[in-house]
Amino acid sequence: MNTKNTYNLYDELDDFDLDEKGHARHPHRNPKKLPRSEQEFLHKQDDSASGFKFTYKAARFESWWLLDSLGGFYEHQWISDVLRRVKGGKEASVYQCRAGTAILVGGLAAAKVYRPRMLRNLKNDAAYREGRTDLDDEGRHIIRDGDLHAMRKRTAYGEELRHTSWIAHEFTSLQALHDAGADVPEAYAMQKNAILMGYVGDGVGCAPTLSEVSLDRAEASALFERVLRNLDILLANRRVHGDLSAYNILYWEGDITLIDFPQVVDVDGNRNAFKIFERDVARVCEYFSRQGVRADARKLARDLWQAHGYQTRQEVDVRLLDADDPKDRAAWQTQERVR
Ligand SMILES: Nc1ncnc2c1ncn2[C@@H]1O[C@H](COP(=O)(O)OP(=O)(O)OP(=O)(O)O)[C@@H](O)[C@H]1O
Ligand SMILES: [Mg+2]
Repeated sequence: MNTKNTYNLYDELDDFDLDEKGHARHPHRNPKKLPRSEQEFLHKQDDSASGFKFTYKAARFESWWLLDSLGGFYEHQWISDVLRRVKGGKEASVYQCRAGTAILVGGLAAAKVYRPRMLRNLKNDAAYREGRTDLDDEGRHIIRDGDLHAMRKRTAYGEELRHTSWIAHEFTSLQALHDAGADVPEAYAMQKNAILMGYVGDGVGCAPTLSEVSLDRAEASALFERVLRNLDILLANRRVHGDLSAYNILYWEGDITLIDFPQVVDVDGNRNAFKIFERDVARVCEYFSRQGVRADARKLARDLWQAHGYQTRQEVDVRLLDADDPKDRAAWQTQERVR
């Protein structure tokens, strides 16, 4: 079967309902009834299972998905086993893996596997993609006319390229930010549908997110400073997280780790960058104010932004504004007046 159709097939099969152990409760379609070419394709996936067998008991569709998404990590000895699914979501699932000899024998690694629908759910993706070059599965800029055309026309192949570009942005951001000393997982490898990175947590389960944790005042204050330090490193690397909140910060043994970077925004090329940054800062401040740390989010965002010499007067995208918020309405009116 044409690999272009792989995503569509998986997406259909993906409509299973997983129980807590990752088993399908109601697979909506019986693979025996699939057209012959699709059956052959899935059969091939089953064959490859002979090389890559993992401890995690995945449902059948999930198993195919994992073999396709993580097979390359296994072949290159980045991982030797998939131990458990630590988080299953609508857009991505994260698996605890045993690291292979290419990383750290006996250690753990986290594999984030994206679902095809991740792209479809990003309704507002243009606001994030502005000013950002699309990347291929090796992190290189996509410059071929045919590829650019396919992406513009949103053909199946173009959609696959766009899907991989989001993942490549997460991967390259993790690499750059880790090198710059930010508290993010180390990124080891990527495939067109998955990222392998440092695992935060222990053998039993992954670290909780900050949103699940209550901090005492002193610790909250220290961790707030730590988040600000990370925001500063991001800005120095000309990036805005784009979806930062207590849900995307892990907490483990007193330390924090920022995760979930596919929508990372380019400071230079994106007119919405400051607006998105302000929202990130506001969400972080909301969490910390509940932990007893007060801060003026708008001022903080402006100060951090300006400390890097960036302009706050950028044009904003109307899709990011809240019509019920008087400040957003005023910002839009000002922008319209200077046009
Ligand atoms: N490096 C990691 N180590 C340990 N656990 C992780 C790691 N990365 C992610 N996780 C776990 O997986 C969850 C989802 O990860 P992430 O936020 O990157 O994906 P997501 O796109 O937000 O997924 P969803 O939309 O399904 O929540 C995290 O909240 C955390 O529980
Ligand atoms: Mg997340």
